[in-house]
Amino acid sequence: MAGFFNDEEEYSSEYDDKLIVSTKNEMDAEENVLRPKTMSDYIGQEKVKENLNVYIAAAKARGDALDHVLLYGPPGLGKTTLSHIIAGEMGTAIKLTSGPAIERSGDLAAILTNLNEGDILFIDEIHRLNHTVEEILYSAMEDFALDIIVGKGPSARNIRFPLKKFTLIGATTRAGMLSAPLRDRFGIICRLDMYAPRELQTIIEHSARKLNIEIEKDASYEIARRSRGTPRIANRLLKRVSDFSLVKGNRVVTKADASFALMKQEIDELGLDETDRNLLRALIDKFGGGPAGLETLAATINEDVNTIEDIYEPYLMQLGFIARTPRGRICLRAGYEHMGLSAPDAEKEKKQISLFEEE
Ligand SMILES: Nc1ncnc2c1ncn2[C@@H]1O[C@H](COP(=O)(O)OP(=O)(O)OP(=O)(O)O)[C@@H](O)[C@H]1O
Ligand SMILES: [Mg+2]
Repeated sequence: MAGFFNDEEEYSSEYDDKLIVSTKNEMDAEENVLRPKTMSDYIGQEKVKENLNVYIAAAKARGDALDHVLLYGPPGLGKTTLSHIIAGEMGTAIKLTSGPAIERSGDLAAILTNLNEGDILFIDEIHRLNHTVEEILYSAMEDFALDIIVGKGPSARNIRFPLKKFTLIGATTRAGMLSAPLRDRFGIICRLDMYAPRELQTIIEHSARKLNIEIEKDASYEIARRSRGTPRIANRLLKRVSDFSLVKGNRVVTKADASFALMKQEIDELGLDETDRNLLRALIDKFGGGPAGLETLAATINEDVNTIEDIYEPYLMQLGFIARTPRGRICLRAGYEHMGLSAPDAEKEKKQISLFEEE
Protein backbone atom coordinates (compact mmCIF):
# COMPACT_ATOMS: atom_id res chain seq x y z
CA MET A 1 0.00 0.00 0.00
CA ALA A 2 1.45 3.32 -1.01
CA GLY A 3 2.74 5.63 1.68
CA PHE A 4 2.20 3.28 4.59
CA PHE A 5 4.74 1.82 6.95
CA ASN A 6 4.55 -0.30 10.01
CA ASP A 7 8.06 0.17 11.19
CA GLU A 8 11.07 2.26 10.59
CA GLU A 9 12.92 -0.26 8.51
CA GLU A 10 10.34 -0.02 5.78
CA TYR A 11 10.21 3.69 6.27
CA SER A 12 13.84 4.18 5.44
CA SER A 13 14.33 1.65 2.68
CA GLU A 14 11.49 0.99 0.33
CA TYR A 15 10.04 4.46 0.43
CA ASP A 16 13.28 6.35 0.68
CA ASP A 17 13.11 8.20 -2.57
CA LYS A 18 9.71 9.62 -1.88
CA LEU A 19 10.11 10.42 1.74
CA ILE A 20 13.54 11.60 2.45
CA VAL A 21 13.95 15.32 2.06
CA SER A 22 17.08 17.37 2.40
CA THR A 23 17.20 17.23 6.19
CA LYS A 24 17.22 13.43 6.35
CA ASN A 25 20.54 11.76 5.75
CA GLU A 26 22.70 8.84 6.68
CA MET A 27 21.83 9.51 10.31
CA ASP A 28 18.39 7.99 9.95
CA ALA A 29 19.29 4.41 10.75
CA GLU A 30 21.67 5.32 13.55
CA GLU A 31 19.18 7.82 14.89
CA ASN A 32 16.92 4.99 15.96
CA VAL A 33 19.66 3.63 18.21
CA LEU A 34 20.05 6.96 19.93
CA ARG A 35 16.35 7.75 20.25
CA PRO A 36 15.19 7.91 23.84
CA LYS A 37 12.33 5.49 24.41
CA THR A 38 10.51 7.01 27.38
CA MET A 39 9.34 10.42 28.48
CA SER A 40 11.86 10.44 31.33
CA ASP A 41 14.75 9.79 28.91
CA TYR A 42 13.57 12.59 26.67
CA ILE A 43 15.71 15.52 27.79
CA GLY A 44 14.41 19.10 27.97
CA GLN A 45 11.17 20.48 26.47
CA GLU A 46 9.86 20.48 30.03
CA LYS A 47 6.64 22.37 29.35
CA VAL A 48 5.71 20.15 26.43
CA LYS A 49 6.43 17.00 28.43
CA GLU A 50 4.51 18.21 31.46
CA ASN A 51 1.41 18.97 29.41
CA LEU A 52 1.59 15.79 27.38
CA ASN A 53 1.95 13.71 30.54
CA VAL A 54 -1.31 15.20 31.82
CA TYR A 55 -3.18 14.60 28.55
CA ILE A 56 -1.84 11.07 28.29
CA ALA A 57 -2.77 10.22 31.89
CA ALA A 58 -6.25 11.71 31.40
CA ALA A 59 -6.85 9.83 28.15
CA LYS A 60 -5.76 6.58 29.80
CA ALA A 61 -7.97 7.22 32.82
CA ARG A 62 -10.93 7.77 30.49
CA GLY A 63 -9.97 4.72 28.48
CA ASP A 64 -10.04 6.94 25.44
CA ALA A 65 -7.72 7.75 22.55
CA LEU A 66 -5.46 10.76 23.01
CA ASP A 67 -6.63 13.93 21.27
CA HIS A 68 -4.87 14.75 17.97
CA VAL A 69 -1.42 16.24 18.50
CA LEU A 70 0.48 18.72 16.32
CA LEU A 71 4.23 18.95 16.95
CA TYR A 72 6.11 21.76 15.30
CA GLY A 73 9.63 23.13 15.36
CA PRO A 74 12.87 23.14 13.34
CA PRO A 75 14.34 19.84 12.08
CA GLY A 76 16.13 17.55 14.51
CA LEU A 77 14.52 18.82 17.72
CA GLY A 78 12.76 15.55 18.50
CA LYS A 79 9.31 15.51 16.90
CA THR A 80 9.53 11.96 15.55
CA THR A 81 11.16 10.79 18.77
CA LEU A 82 8.42 12.31 20.87
CA SER A 83 5.72 10.70 18.75
CA HIS A 84 7.18 7.25 19.39
CA ILE A 85 7.36 8.04 23.09
CA ILE A 86 3.71 9.11 23.13
CA ALA A 87 2.74 5.81 21.50
CA GLY A 88 4.84 3.96 24.08
CA GLU A 89 3.22 5.78 26.99
CA MET A 90 -0.26 5.24 25.57
CA GLY A 91 0.60 1.59 24.93
CA THR A 92 -0.64 1.81 21.36
CA ALA A 93 0.68 1.00 17.92
CA ILE A 94 2.08 3.79 15.76
CA LYS A 95 1.91 3.86 11.98
CA LEU A 96 4.25 6.18 10.15
CA THR A 97 3.77 8.06 6.94
CA SER A 98 4.41 11.52 5.59
CA GLY A 99 2.66 14.29 3.71
CA PRO A 100 4.47 13.85 0.38
CA ALA A 101 4.08 10.05 0.51
CA ILE A 102 0.29 10.22 0.44
CA GLU A 103 -0.45 11.11 -3.15
CA ARG A 104 -4.11 10.27 -3.58
CA SER A 105 -7.07 10.37 -1.23
CA GLY A 106 -7.39 6.60 -1.79
CA ASP A 107 -3.96 6.12 -0.19
CA LEU A 108 -5.06 7.95 2.91
CA ALA A 109 -8.40 6.14 2.96
CA ALA A 110 -6.55 2.82 2.91
CA ILE A 111 -4.32 3.90 5.78
CA LEU A 112 -7.22 5.17 7.87
CA THR A 113 -9.41 2.11 7.42
CA ASN A 114 -6.54 -0.10 8.56
CA LEU A 115 -6.12 1.66 11.89
CA ASN A 116 -7.22 -0.13 15.05
CA GLU A 117 -8.96 1.46 18.00
CA GLY A 118 -6.56 3.84 19.76
CA ASP A 119 -3.76 3.54 17.17
CA ILE A 120 -1.55 6.51 16.45
CA LEU A 121 -1.11 7.68 12.89
CA PHE A 122 2.01 9.79 12.54
CA ILE A 123 2.13 12.07 9.51
CA ASP A 124 5.51 13.70 9.10
CA GLU A 125 5.76 16.93 7.09
CA ILE A 126 2.04 17.28 7.36
CA HIS A 127 2.20 20.72 5.74
CA ARG A 128 3.00 18.95 2.47
CA LEU A 129 -0.28 17.04 2.17
CA ASN A 130 -2.08 17.91 -1.00
CA HIS A 131 -5.43 19.58 -0.76
CA THR A 132 -7.73 16.70 -1.73
CA VAL A 133 -5.97 14.38 0.67
CA GLU A 134 -6.15 16.97 3.41
CA GLU A 135 -9.90 17.27 3.00
CA ILE A 136 -10.33 13.57 3.72
CA LEU A 137 -8.57 14.16 7.01
CA TYR A 138 -11.09 16.74 8.19
CA SER A 139 -13.99 14.33 8.80
CA ALA A 140 -11.58 11.57 9.79
CA MET A 141 -10.16 13.72 12.58
CA GLU A 142 -13.41 15.28 13.66
CA ASP A 143 -16.04 12.57 13.27
CA PHE A 144 -13.86 9.47 12.82
CA ALA A 145 -15.55 8.92 9.50
CA LEU A 146 -14.45 8.68 5.93
CA ASP A 147 -16.47 10.72 3.46
CA ILE A 148 -16.04 9.45 -0.04
CA ILE A 149 -17.75 10.60 -3.20
CA VAL A 150 -18.65 7.76 -5.52
CA GLY A 151 -19.54 8.32 -9.14
CA LYS A 152 -19.50 11.47 -11.22
CA GLY A 153 -21.91 14.23 -12.20
CA PRO A 154 -25.58 13.98 -11.23
CA SER A 155 -25.27 10.40 -10.04
CA ALA A 156 -22.42 11.19 -7.60
CA ARG A 157 -23.17 10.18 -4.03
CA ASN A 158 -21.50 10.77 -0.74
CA ILE A 159 -20.77 7.62 1.22
CA ARG A 160 -19.67 7.72 4.84
CA PHE A 161 -17.59 4.94 6.41
CA PRO A 162 -17.05 4.82 10.15
CA LEU A 163 -13.44 4.66 11.34
CA LYS A 164 -11.98 3.40 14.58
CA LYS A 165 -11.11 6.14 17.06
CA PHE A 166 -7.45 6.97 16.41
CA THR A 167 -4.97 9.69 17.28
CA LEU A 168 -3.33 11.69 14.56
CA ILE A 169 0.10 13.09 15.36
CA GLY A 170 1.21 15.62 12.77
CA ALA A 171 4.77 16.92 12.65
CA THR A 172 5.91 19.97 10.76
CA THR A 173 8.78 22.40 10.56
CA ARG A 174 6.37 25.00 9.18
CA ALA A 175 3.31 25.49 11.34
CA GLY A 176 2.59 28.62 9.32
CA MET A 177 2.04 26.55 6.19
CA LEU A 178 -0.77 24.52 7.71
CA SER A 179 -4.25 25.50 6.61
CA ALA A 180 -6.50 26.87 9.36
CA PRO A 181 -9.11 24.07 9.10
CA LEU A 182 -6.41 21.44 9.57
CA ARG A 183 -4.66 23.27 12.40
CA ASP A 184 -7.97 23.79 14.20
CA ARG A 185 -8.63 20.06 14.32
CA PHE A 186 -5.64 19.41 16.57
CA GLY A 187 -6.66 19.46 20.23
CA ILE A 188 -3.05 19.52 21.42
CA ILE A 189 -0.48 21.79 19.80
CA CYS A 190 3.13 21.67 20.99
CA ARG A 191 5.99 23.86 19.88
CA LEU A 192 9.46 22.40 20.36
CA ASP A 193 12.16 24.94 21.18
CA MET A 194 15.88 24.82 20.64
CA TYR A 195 17.74 23.18 23.51
CA ALA A 196 20.01 24.88 26.02
CA PRO A 197 23.69 23.80 25.96
CA ARG A 198 23.32 22.00 29.33
CA GLU A 199 20.44 19.93 27.96
CA LEU A 200 22.41 19.08 24.84
CA GLN A 201 25.33 18.11 27.03
CA THR A 202 23.15 15.57 28.82
CA ILE A 203 21.91 14.25 25.47
CA ILE A 204 25.51 13.92 24.25
CA GLU A 205 26.51 12.07 27.41
CA HIS A 206 23.62 9.63 27.03
CA SER A 207 24.46 9.07 23.37
CA ALA A 208 28.15 8.58 24.16
CA ARG A 209 27.20 5.84 26.61
CA LYS A 210 25.07 4.10 23.99
CA LEU A 211 27.87 4.34 21.43
CA ASN A 212 30.59 3.27 23.88
CA ILE A 213 32.39 6.56 23.54
CA GLU A 214 34.23 7.88 26.57
CA ILE A 215 34.09 11.63 26.73
CA GLU A 216 35.18 14.24 29.27
CA LYS A 217 32.64 16.65 30.70
CA ASP A 218 34.13 19.80 29.20
CA ALA A 219 34.37 18.06 25.83
CA SER A 220 30.68 17.21 25.83
CA TYR A 221 29.91 20.78 26.81
CA GLU A 222 32.09 22.11 24.01
CA ILE A 223 30.15 20.04 21.48
CA ALA A 224 26.83 21.02 23.08
CA ARG A 225 27.63 24.71 22.83
CA ARG A 226 28.25 24.38 19.11
CA SER A 227 25.26 22.21 18.22
CA ARG A 228 22.84 24.97 17.24
CA GLY A 229 20.39 23.99 19.96
CA THR A 230 19.66 20.77 18.05
CA PRO A 231 19.99 17.17 19.39
CA ARG A 232 20.43 15.69 15.91
CA ILE A 233 23.42 17.96 15.31
CA ALA A 234 24.80 17.26 18.80
CA ASN A 235 24.73 13.51 18.10
CA ARG A 236 26.31 13.97 14.71
CA LEU A 237 29.12 16.17 16.05
CA LEU A 238 29.74 13.70 18.87
CA LYS A 239 30.43 10.98 16.31
CA ARG A 240 32.66 13.13 14.14
CA VAL A 241 34.63 14.35 17.15
CA SER A 242 35.07 10.82 18.44
CA ASP A 243 36.38 9.79 15.00
CA PHE A 244 39.10 12.39 15.33
CA SER A 245 40.00 11.19 18.84
CA LEU A 246 40.11 7.60 17.73
CA VAL A 247 42.45 8.34 14.85
CA LYS A 248 44.69 10.35 17.17
CA GLY A 249 44.82 7.25 19.37
CA ASN A 250 42.99 8.85 22.31
CA ARG A 251 40.81 6.58 24.39
CA VAL A 252 38.85 9.43 25.93
CA VAL A 253 37.51 12.40 24.00
CA THR A 254 38.94 15.59 25.46
CA LYS A 255 37.98 19.22 25.02
CA ALA A 256 41.06 19.73 22.87
CA ASP A 257 39.89 16.90 20.59
CA ALA A 258 36.47 18.49 20.36
CA SER A 259 37.80 21.94 19.53
CA PHE A 260 40.24 20.54 17.00
CA ALA A 261 37.65 18.37 15.24
CA LEU A 262 35.11 21.17 15.10
CA MET A 263 37.69 23.57 13.78
CA LYS A 264 38.59 21.07 11.08
CA GLN A 265 34.93 20.92 10.11
CA GLU A 266 34.82 24.71 9.98
CA ILE A 267 32.26 24.91 12.72
CA ASP A 268 32.89 28.06 14.66
CA GLU A 269 32.55 28.99 18.32
CA LEU A 270 28.78 29.36 18.06
CA GLY A 271 28.21 26.35 15.84
CA LEU A 272 27.94 28.32 12.60
CA ASP A 273 29.26 26.62 9.49
CA GLU A 274 30.42 27.91 6.14
CA THR A 275 26.87 28.32 4.81
CA ASP A 276 25.81 30.44 7.78
CA ARG A 277 28.82 32.65 7.28
CA ASN A 278 28.23 32.87 3.52
CA LEU A 279 24.69 33.95 4.22
CA LEU A 280 25.75 36.67 6.65
CA ARG A 281 28.54 37.78 4.36
CA ALA A 282 26.20 38.00 1.35
CA LEU A 283 23.63 39.91 3.34
CA ILE A 284 26.24 42.41 4.49
CA ASP A 285 28.45 42.75 1.40
CA LYS A 286 25.99 42.33 -1.43
CA PHE A 287 22.85 43.79 0.08
CA GLY A 288 24.21 46.41 2.45
CA GLY A 289 22.78 44.51 5.42
CA GLY A 290 19.41 43.96 3.73
CA PRO A 291 16.56 43.72 3.34
CA ALA A 292 17.17 40.95 0.82
CA GLY A 293 14.47 38.59 -0.39
CA LEU A 294 14.90 34.96 0.59
CA GLU A 295 15.01 33.71 -3.00
CA THR A 296 17.59 36.29 -4.05
CA LEU A 297 19.69 35.50 -1.01
CA ALA A 298 19.44 31.76 -1.67
CA ALA A 299 20.49 32.22 -5.29
CA THR A 300 23.42 34.40 -4.24
CA ILE A 301 24.88 31.78 -1.93
CA ASN A 302 23.78 28.89 -4.13
CA GLU A 303 21.64 27.21 -1.48
CA ASP A 304 18.17 25.77 -1.52
CA VAL A 305 15.44 28.11 -0.27
CA ASN A 306 13.87 25.47 1.98
CA THR A 307 17.20 24.52 3.51
CA ILE A 308 17.83 28.14 4.40
CA GLU A 309 14.38 28.57 5.84
CA ASP A 310 14.32 25.30 7.79
CA ILE A 311 17.89 24.89 8.91
CA TYR A 312 19.93 28.07 8.73
CA GLU A 313 17.53 30.86 9.54
CA PRO A 314 15.99 29.56 12.76
CA TYR A 315 19.35 29.45 14.51
CA LEU A 316 20.61 32.74 13.07
CA MET A 317 17.40 34.36 14.24
CA GLN A 318 17.65 32.72 17.64
CA LEU A 319 21.14 34.21 17.97
CA GLY A 320 19.75 37.61 17.01
CA PHE A 321 22.03 37.77 13.95
CA ILE A 322 19.33 38.24 11.37
CA ALA A 323 15.68 39.23 11.33
CA ARG A 324 12.86 38.34 9.01
CA THR A 325 10.85 41.24 7.65
CA PRO A 326 8.12 41.41 5.01
CA ARG A 327 10.65 43.08 2.68
CA GLY A 328 13.26 40.40 3.23
CA ARG A 329 16.03 39.40 5.60
CA ILE A 330 18.20 41.93 7.41
CA CYS A 331 21.48 41.50 9.23
CA LEU A 332 21.49 42.78 12.82
CA ARG A 333 24.36 44.24 14.86
CA ALA A 334 25.30 40.94 16.47
CA GLY A 335 25.58 39.41 13.01
CA TYR A 336 28.01 42.10 11.85
CA GLU A 337 30.03 41.72 15.03
CA HIS A 338 30.27 37.96 14.67
CA MET A 339 31.69 38.48 11.18
CA GLY A 340 34.22 40.92 12.65
CA LEU A 341 32.66 43.88 10.89
CA SER A 342 31.56 47.17 12.33
CA ALA A 343 27.81 47.35 12.52
CA PRO A 344 25.60 50.25 11.42
CA ASP A 345 24.77 52.49 14.37
CA ALA A 346 22.09 51.38 16.77
CA GLU A 347 19.64 54.15 15.91
CA LYS A 348 19.68 53.32 12.24
CA GLU A 349 19.20 49.66 12.99
CA LYS A 350 16.24 50.30 15.25
CA LYS A 351 14.64 52.34 12.51
CA GLN A 352 15.31 49.63 9.97
CA ILE A 353 13.76 46.98 12.16
CA SER A 354 10.69 49.02 13.06
CA LEU A 355 10.15 49.88 9.42
CA PHE A 356 10.20 46.27 8.44
CA GLU A 357 8.82 44.57 11.53
CA GLU A 358 6.63 41.64 10.61
CA GLU A 359 3.99 41.83 13.31
N1 LIG B 1 14.67 15.46 23.87
C1 LIG B 1 15.59 14.63 23.37
N2 LIG B 1 16.37 13.92 24.21
C2 LIG B 1 17.31 13.09 23.71
N3 LIG B 1 17.57 12.92 22.40
C3 LIG B 1 16.82 13.60 21.53
C4 LIG B 1 15.79 14.47 21.98
N4 LIG B 1 15.21 15.01 20.89
C5 LIG B 1 15.83 14.50 19.83
N5 LIG B 1 16.80 13.65 20.19
C6 LIG B 1 17.74 12.95 19.31
O1 LIG B 1 17.82 13.71 18.10
C7 LIG B 1 17.57 12.89 16.98
C8 LIG B 1 16.62 13.62 16.04
O2 LIG B 1 15.34 13.69 16.58
P1 LIG B 1 14.02 13.51 15.69
O3 LIG B 1 14.30 12.62 14.55
O4 LIG B 1 12.92 13.12 16.61
O5 LIG B 1 13.81 14.99 15.18
P2 LIG B 1 12.63 15.59 14.31
O6 LIG B 1 12.13 16.80 15.04
O7 LIG B 1 11.64 14.53 14.01
O8 LIG B 1 13.39 16.06 12.99
P3 LIG B 1 12.80 16.27 11.49
O9 LIG B 1 12.03 17.56 11.50
O10 LIG B 1 14.02 16.37 10.64
O11 LIG B 1 11.95 15.09 11.19
C9 LIG B 1 16.99 11.57 17.52
O12 LIG B 1 17.67 10.50 16.95
C10 LIG B 1 17.27 11.57 18.99
O13 LIG B 1 18.33 10.70 19.26
MG1 LIG C 1 11.19 13.61 12.19
